[in-house]
Amino acid sequence: MGDVQGKFISLEGGDGTGKSTQARLLSDFLSELDISNILTREPGGAPGADEIRELILTGDPDRWDAIGETLLFYASRRNHMRLTVWPAMERGDWVISDRFADSTIAYQGYGNELGAETVMKIHEVVVGDFAPDLTFILDIDVKQGLSRTMGRDHNEDRFERMDISFHERMRQGFLDIAEENPSRCVVIDASQSVDAIQQAMRDVIRERYGR
Ligand code: TYD
Repeated sequence: MGDVQGKFISLEGGDGTGKSTQARLLSDFLSELDISNILTREPGGAPGADEIRELILTGDPDRWDAIGETLLFYASRRNHMRLTVWPAMERGDWVISDRFADSTIAYQGYGNELGAETVMKIHEVVVGDFAPDLTFILDIDVKQGLSRTMGRDHNEDRFERMDISFHERMRQGFLDIAEENPSRCVVIDASQSVDAIQQAMRDVIRERYGR
């Protein structure tokens, strides 16, 4: 990447934490502050990455093993960074991403028990030193989160159909990441109302960036 002015903010957390709604509201907030920004998501966020998204998220839970799946997430991430995230940041835009690499550590490293170290080996090759400037981790009790995803009408539910212990490990993964990266990560209690969660996130932006 060349001369970068834009900031990269990721939103992370389990299923049913309301991340996507919060990402949208955060994008609105930045726009109100006249900060040009884009809202994107993983897996996806670029045409090739969106095709890989379909491969990963649909079908039988045993369709991919942990390593195969991790490589697909990273192939999609590389495509997303190269074609969407980095060009936006070089233009000076801020980028809000609904999920990024912490999801792979939490879901594949912890949930699928591949191990965070193994994921990090791939991470170093694909992502290198690039990292979000700020990461919000929306944290919620696993059962409460999963009950919110019930009744969603979509077929991209390969992970929601994993068992409870998978989700418990994944939640712990996010909390470990937050503990290991205290200057980058802010954990938000996602059992709060949509408004309260958004206020907490906006407070962090104001505090960090003087906005
Ligand atoms: P998505 O529709 O974004 O779900 P959510 O609304 O919960 O964000 O689907 C993404 C799914 O893929 C989600 O269950 C988490 C999972 N995932 C991984 O397992 N590893 C990853 O690296 C990423 C980015 C997502």
